[in-house]
Amino acid sequence: THTHTHTHTHTHSYTLWDLNRTWVFQAGEGVLQHYSMLLDETQERLIIGGKDILYSLNLDRVSAPHSEIHWASSEEQVEQCLMQGREKPECANYIKLIQQYNSTHLLTCGTGAFSPACAYIRVSHSMENRVFQLELEHIESGRGKSPFHPNSPTISTVSRGQLFVGLYTDYWENDAALYRLGNHGYTRTEVGDRQQLNEPKFVGSVAIPDNDDPADDKVYFFFTERVPNTEGGHKAVYSRVARVCANDHGGQRMLVNRWSSFLKARLICSVAGPNGIDTHFDELEDVFVLKKKDEKNPEIFGLFSTTSAVFKGYAVCMYNMEEIRAVFNGPFAHRERADHHWSVYEGKVPYPRPGSCASKINGGQFSSSKEYPDEVLRFVRSHPLMFQPVQPVHRRPILLDTDGRRRLTELAVDRVEAEDGHYNVLFIGTDDSVVLKVITIFNKEANTVEEVLLEELQVFKVPVPITEIIISTKRQQLYVGSEVGVAQVRVHQCGLYGSACADCCLARDPYCAWDGHTCSRYYPAGIYTKRRFRRQDVRHGNAVQQCNGLQLNGSVLEKLVYGVEKNSTLLECRPRSLQALLTWYMLKGLDMEEITT
Ligand SMILES: *[C@@H]1O[C@H](CO)[C@@H](O)[C@H](O)[C@H]1NC(C)=O
Ligand SMILES: *[C@@H]1O[C@H](CO)[C@@H](O)[C@H](O)[C@H]1NC(C)=O
Ligand SMILES: *[C@@H]1O[C@H](CO)[C@@H](O)[C@H](O)[C@H]1NC(C)=O
Ligand SMILES: *[C@@H]1O[C@H](CO)[C@@H](O)[C@H](O)[C@H]1NC(C)=O
Repeated sequence: THTHTHTHTHTHSYTLWDLNRTWVFQAGEGVLQHYSMLLDETQERLIIGGKDILYSLNLDRVSAPHSEIHWASSEEQVEQCLMQGREKPECANYIKLIQQYNSTHLLTCGTGAFSPACAYIRVSHSMENRVFQLELEHIESGRGKSPFHPNSPTISTVSRGQLFVGLYTDYWENDAALYRLGNHGYTRTEVGDRQQLNEPKFVGSVAIPDNDDPADDKVYFFFTERVPNTEGGHKAVYSRVARVCANDHGGQRMLVNRWSSFLKARLICSVAGPNGIDTHFDELEDVFVLKKKDEKNPEIFGLFSTTSAVFKGYAVCMYNMEEIRAVFNGPFAHRERADHHWSVYEGKVPYPRPGSCASKINGGQFSSSKEYPDEVLRFVRSHPLMFQPVQPVHRRPILLDTDGRRRLTELAVDRVEAEDGHYNVLFIGTDDSVVLKVITIFNKEANTVEEVLLEELQVFKVPVPITEIIISTKRQQLYVGSEVGVAQVRVHQCGLYGSACADCCLARDPYCAWDGHTCSRYYPAGIYTKRRFRRQDVRHGNAVQQCNGLQLNGSVLEKLVYGVEKNSTLLECRPRSLQALLTWYMLKGLDMEEITT
């Protein structure tokens, strides 16, 4: 069944550089090994962590003069690293974590030549002097915050002054853990518990409130992990979403400093095959959390890949919190022995329900997870998996890429208000320096998804994998990372679509509308009330309707073909875009007659 249609409206040959739409920051030697990035909108800086170095870039122009901090490992540390048999390039301080710590300081952690360390960076924003300074007297151990290996995937998020990290904590990369690090102690996954984490690859994390009580805040972790396949003994990979209470301090006698609320579920992103067998995209490559006014209900986007026997490809699936919460509130998975099938746990579920937080909403009976009854702790320890998987919105991907031309690596999403509704604009990074700008339109009646590729932005001049995309909605900019540098790219350039009403409408770019003179940035009515005379049709790109009665000069291409009576003539014309309409008229004496085919 052909349920996805691809529409490719525009490819322009201008380069981003000619248009002043992009600026690139390149580090001194032309190679930028970046290992972490933080968009700090309050200080108006983009912080980049590299090898023995941190950069602080100007958000308006990343290529403008910047500040930097050199933070290398000591000679002793490097020597010790080499003595352990490590290669010289590994024995450096790779910055793996940068987070806002408080209003005056950032926290940063690095591999420290296989001896992880953390430090605080003093930052301030004032026009006359910008401070960006490492507090050298407060360097502390980075165990549980930075991995030992430069390329070990690490995720982190900050919520109400607490740090949540997913990483491999040890030299040998055996101990994968999800950590909470607060001022008073820590909580983590059980060491060596493969029911909780089995060779995970960490992809992303986010703190999301459940309701108005902060004690009910949850932290979500996204990762892939290995699952033993019970049939063949062959190990498969699944994508997961795991959840903990942000205020989980572990148990008192049992599960000391261990999560008392850790639960996880499978994330599904699949397409139905012709013979009723679904193809699953099980490798989560990137995750993007699209925050909304309602903080409790962001939309979650996952970029997945598959290397199934049937085909190789990529898919983007979208999830809503309602579905995710329903899965965590649903049945627990249970199996008798490791080689048995998973089934629904049908026994008695203890109170308070495992996975719920010590909060007023839950009766206020427990002021801390330390007061939870032993049977709750025992249950959560033995049943960390939910029975139902999390299904995507529409139960299908919103985007599919199966032509195998290139790898898709990164994802960022912007929510844009257009004349005919809201659109999620996807920015997808590839392994050949391109950022694809795509909207997807779901047709409820036909149950189909139309993908409209709006722009293909070549961000770097040489083909390199995009390793990071951060979006600043406030500034309408993307910050795109790769080994050759960090590029800043404006998310729209409406002028590119030309000055004709029809061309602007046909572009179907929700950022742009025809304003009576040219194609320009669209602002919803109410912000600029005078802008009511705007023509835009993202859903259908119907230029005839939108631009009816307007001069279509510049967008109508006329072609005159002479024919001979009672003979045939080939009427040949290539439309400028797939959205264009083609009409032939026949002139008979003084009458114009439309030719219908
Ligand atoms: C880009 O910027 C340069 C220098 O500021 C300017 O000369 C040029 O006209 C600009 N190009 C466009 C297309 O705006
Ligand atoms: C932020 O944290 C740093 C490091 O612990 C500390 O020195 C500083 O005083 C803190 N600032 C505020 C405003 O709390
Ligand atoms: C646009 O076309 C109309 C008639 O088709 C013509 O009268 C008008 O002068 C043209 N305007 C421009 C700016 O070319
Ligand atoms: C009829 O059309 C064909 C091909 O377009 C052309 O070769 C032929 O000369 C035409 N005949 C007359 C009588 O014009």
